[in-house]
Amino acid sequence: MPVENLHELLKHELGDLLFAEKTILKALPKMAREVSNPDMRARMEEHVRETEGQVTNLERAFEAIGERAKAERCPGILGLIEEHDDFKKEEEPSKPMLEAFDLGSGLRVEHYEIAAYRTSIAIAKAIGNRDVVALLKQNLDQELAMAKFIEQSAGSALQMAATNAAAVAAKKGAAKKGAAKQGATKKAAAKKGGARKSAQQTADSAAE
Ligand SMILES: [Fe+2]
Ligand SMILES: [Fe+2]
Repeated sequence: MPVENLHELLKHELGDLLFAEKTILKALPKMAREVSNPDMRARMEEHVRETEGQVTNLERAFEAIGERAKAERCPGILGLIEEHDDFKKEEEPSKPMLEAFDLGSGLRVEHYEIAAYRTSIAIAKAIGNRDVVALLKQNLDQELAMAKFIEQSAGSALQMAATNAAAVAAKKGAAKKGAAKQGATKKAAAKKGGARKSAQQTADSAAE
């Protein structure tokens, strides 16, 4: 159906947001499992619960404009999730580096949501629907708080990722060294065994 007025545009934007929130609701618990920092994980789990409330608020906003709640496919959010999944698959990051990357993925998602809510709030204001403005403002405030949390935690989270990456590298180095040492011992033992065998052969042929 052609979009020809602000009411229809708002309906489209709400549908886009509903799709985005439902997509995030599926992706966020998976991303939370990639995180080892307990504070970050707890905050992400809290945001999952907030997102459930955001879906309800969007459904109420549809009601407030007299429309049935319907999600509209949102390629923007799908692109952000795809970017995360592609990085994981193609770059094969170590666990600490995946966690560091996830800070950026999370921040990108929050900023996408912030832009979308600000857009819909502006349209709702323009058509004078205060109920929709109030509902969307609740969601926007949660997104802003989440973005702030990620930004404020980023410094210490990146430091922790660097420390963990160094520990993984040291462990790998030690394992490599251990394997090399074991290889050298085996080689020496084989050499010794060979020498013993040929000495025995020499002794045997001398006795004949
Ligand atoms: Fe959200
Ligand atoms: Fe969010």
